Amino acid sequence: MKTIIYNIGTLAGILPESKTMLKGSEMNHVECIENAYLTIEDGIITDFGPCNGGYIGIQNNPSHDCVAGPSPCGQGGSTVLDTNTTTEIEYIDAKGGFVMPAFCDAHTHIVYAGCRDGEFRDKIAGLSYEEIAARGGGILNSADLLHETSEEELYRQSMERVNEIMAMGTGAVEIKSGYGLTLEDELKMLRVIRRIKETTPLTIKSTFLGAHAVGRAYKGRQADYVDHICKDMLPAVAAENLADFVDVFTDKGFFTVEETDKILSEAAKYGIKPKIHANELAVSGGVQVGVKHNAQSVDHLEATTDAEIECLRNSGTMPTMLPGCSFFLGIEFGRAKDYINAGLPVALSSDYNPGSSPSGNMRFVMALGCIRMRLTPEQSFNACTINSAYAMGVSDTVGSITVGKKANLIITKPLPSLAFIPYSHQTPIIEKVILNK
Ligand code: NIG
Ligand code: FE
Repeated sequence: MKTIIYNIGTLAGILPESKTMLKGSEMNHVECIENAYLTIEDGIITDFGPCNGGYIGIQNNPSHDCVAGPSPCGQGGSTVLDTNTTTEIEYIDAKGGFVMPAFCDAHTHIVYAGCRDGEFRDKIAGLSYEEIAARGGGILNSADLLHETSEEELYRQSMERVNEIMAMGTGAVEIKSGYGLTLEDELKMLRVIRRIKETTPLTIKSTFLGAHAVGRAYKGRQADYVDHICKDMLPAVAAENLADFVDVFTDKGFFTVEETDKILSEAAKYGIKPKIHANELAVSGGVQVGVKHNAQSVDHLEATTDAEIECLRNSGTMPTMLPGCSFFLGIEFGRAKDYINAGLPVALSSDYNPGSSPSGNMRFVMALGCIRMRLTPEQSFNACTINSAYAMGVSDTVGSITVGKKANLIITKPLPSLAFIPYSHQTPIIEKVILNK
């Protein structure tokens, strides 16, 4: 099956195959073609280019141009047979809208049971995230709910959120465990993530986050819980091949650098690379230990000193910031601009979770990147697409308009500019989301 998207007002986010991330001033630019077409075969982008009165690549059929106006190919979405090749061709009329890569969300916790709307009231009344957690709420509250929820029901609830983010233009998502905190419940979460991988067109990476909080059974015995993660959980997770990455909440009141080092060293024995929660609540040393273990990304970074920026230079680790969490918790936003000015890359992701960011809307993330972190629309666009694809290890297959990559695309209504996407961030601009496995 071949698909031809024509009448594209602006094809945005074009990159050469060699670019798997953008750093420093490279983030200032989004390569676009005005009045373009794009072709897809078997889910892969096979060609694109300008199409002013032009010929769009259907051999021996020069009538298939895509000049604005009534389509020579029939109505948008129609399917015809190319008589020369007997290939079925689907035509999609982009009607002058943008076509851009689907968003990549490199940090989420979207598999969870129920919600924490009660804590929302506590938060509004003035309790901090740490105070709610210290009272036995927070992550442990979600762990209790998840324990009571069957795997089937957990899948059902999670799929509601998965469908929600797909409709909002997310095409690749990383999903963490970490609301189990017992061997059985962590495996339950990871099996649900595997089932979501199997049953949706999303590109999905799964992350084992047993070290999200100390499970209730280990209260007061944190060292024993870390041993349990290393000796029992990691081997079981690896045996079922359930995790692409390992994560640790390396932060004040959660796990120390030494404990993180121990867990990451153990995970390395199974070939599982880290992605780290670092510096959300305090400067924690999480960035340094992550870089030491060649982490794919270090995430949050709301609290950062210049030492973290220095440490990330010349590393292959993607600093990933989560402005939805800063917004919801009312804490500092990461110093994205300083990172970029220092020549580093930055990715933005949603952190979709019930406690600190109950939203997976990547367009809102892109808007917060601009409004609260002072990124330009181009920098924020790159942070939410190619760089967030890198942060979850999939930038060789998604995150840009590149021949050979998966055709995971958003088609929008006609827009005045790229800046309109984060500027008018509540306007429903998405016409169609195309996702291919
Ligand atoms: O990324 N910081 C740790 N984990 C999540 C919050 C999890 C929760 O509160 O349920 C985060 O913010
Ligand atoms: Fe998180």
